[in-house]
Amino acid sequence: VLVVTITNLLWIHTFLSLCSSLFFLRVQFELWDSDDPIPRQELLKKVKGCDGLLCVLTEKIDAEVLNAAGPNLKVLSTMSVGFDHLSLGELKKRGIRVGYTPEVLTDAVAELTIALLLATSRRLIEATHEAKTGGWGTWRTLWLCGYELADSTVGIFGLGRIGVAIAERLKPFKVKKFIYTDVAPRPELAAAIQAEYVSMDELARQSDFLAVCCALTPETQGICNKNLFSKMKNTSIFINTSRGGVVNQEDLYEALSTGQIAGAGLDVTVPEPLPTNHPLFTLKNCVILPHIASASYTTRNAMSALAANNLLAGLRGEPMPKELQL
Ligand code: DGY
Repeated sequence: VLVVTITNLLWIHTFLSLCSSLFFLRVQFELWDSDDPIPRQELLKKVKGCDGLLCVLTEKIDAEVLNAAGPNLKVLSTMSVGFDHLSLGELKKRGIRVGYTPEVLTDAVAELTIALLLATSRRLIEATHEAKTGGWGTWRTLWLCGYELADSTVGIFGLGRIGVAIAERLKPFKVKKFIYTDVAPRPELAAAIQAEYVSMDELARQSDFLAVCCALTPETQGICNKNLFSKMKNTSIFINTSRGGVVNQEDLYEALSTGQIAGAGLDVTVPEPLPTNHPLFTLKNCVILPHIASASYTTRNAMSALAANNLLAGLRGEPMPKELQL
């Protein structure tokens, strides 16, 4: 008998697929049936003795959880492409296999990144606020002017599937040039969008729009800081849909409030949720979304189905559809 703890699982597709598969596997499972994260103490209690665990990115899976689970735990499946909430070293040490959900969210994240970029560069949030609150007077020449994509240089920090998907969507806006930086050139991906590999400094200097698409790792933690912002143009727009931890938010606040850069669009912050009294919320040139890049019905269903299939394959000892190589 197997008990699987599932946190935050709401999607019926996954639920049904798990119910039927687990029934045939003669597996017992326990469901955290709420859209709110499972309280830590509850997770520590429920995970005890489990063979598998399906989680979302709000659960920090560290030594404490793994110790609470005990030696039965063989499979961890996270319903996310990001895995910075997982202590990979601890998982590897215990021989626990890990599934994740890349690819199925690429389109949704790229689409949201474009929306955020346009909302920030064309000042859409400020504009609707003005229209609603009486700030809309006569037509004025420079009122609510922003920056356009046509003839611009777009920089991508961390070129992977999502970066390419963003560039493909931006192309029809008549972007002049795509540049990118990463730990090493990625010629195959870059060829698809004719992007030029540049240093981090050049990326900062040349980009009219700089989109962060890298994973959060010890190397990228806080990498978007004063040093980067000070090299950017004061007409540039900074966009982050990856993880809040790659940005030094104090430095970003400084860059935005002093006009060092023109604007920032963030779908991710530290912490999440960002407290409503956070200084970044006071800035008109900062658009903040509550981590919704993958939030489309299609994508969340695909993510949950993939996460469930990863879990089941792992429990059966079969290759997972998407397994993280530890
Ligand atoms: C992920 O899957 O890591 C995303 O951040 C969720 O939107």
